[in-house]
Amino acid sequence: MGSFGKFINSSIGKKLTMAVTGSFLIIFLIVHLIGNITLFFGPEVFNGYVLTLDIVKPLIRVIEVVLLSAFILHIFNGTKLWIENKRARGVKYKINSSSENSDVFSRTMFLTGSIVFIFLVTHLGTFFWRFNVYDPMGLANHHQYFDIVVHFFGIWWYVLLYVVAVLLLGFHLNHGFQSAFQTFGWNHKKYFTLVEKIGTLYAIVMAVGFASMPIYFFFFCGGNQ
Ligand code: HEM
Repeated sequence: MGSFGKFINSSIGKKLTMAVTGSFLIIFLIVHLIGNITLFFGPEVFNGYVLTLDIVKPLIRVIEVVLLSAFILHIFNGTKLWIENKRARGVKYKINSSSENSDVFSRTMFLTGSIVFIFLVTHLGTFFWRFNVYDPMGLANHHQYFDIVVHFFGIWWYVLLYVVAVLLLGFHLNHGFQSAFQTFGWNHKKYFTLVEKIGTLYAIVMAVGFASMPIYFFFFCGGNQ
């Protein structure tokens, strides 16, 4: 294995991979939330937004490949780190409970990440698939993207999955944000409290922002299934 391979497989290499891919996903979520806010402005605005994305399709496809790679690396490395930590802790911290050394957000990263992953697969299997590949309702062919969202946000279990998953996503981001800063070495005592506060604010805005859409459409646009 070359020296780059060795570095990537080292403990710090894995942490750095988590921080770099995580930062990319943090930025993606901001862009995604801003785009989705067009849902609140009705069908013309939202369908117009989706069609505008279509104009720059080659660029979007490149971003999607980078995004998919970031997700895969993030999930693969996160799972590896979790297994390694579990093995190490099994022996060392039998007496000292881990709750004395870390908070609930850092201890539940694997759990919250796994639930967000299940959400993501469901999310892409419905919206992404129907918008871009095949929509059995035939709405995407007529550019009625808004109606696809309204349909799914009318299904109670789908809405429940979204709300639970994005709240847990908030937990995941709350720790992930400050953890990335720490890995990059931007953890000066003077500024770190500020970084933690910005991370918490970011996590709350993302959780509340993404949860507001399914809740709004379910309760105010005729959820009945
Ligand atoms: C709850 C509110 C959300 C709504 C209404 C929503 C809506 C959508 C829609 C309509 C698409 C298809 C876009 C297109 O192909 O033109 C999409 C794609 C996607 N969403 Fe979401 N989303 C939400 C939350 C999330 C969250 C929380 C995540 C990440 C954890 C996420 C990750 C993605 C990804 C990775 C894609 C594929 C990216 C792309 O090809 O553009 N979404 N979403």
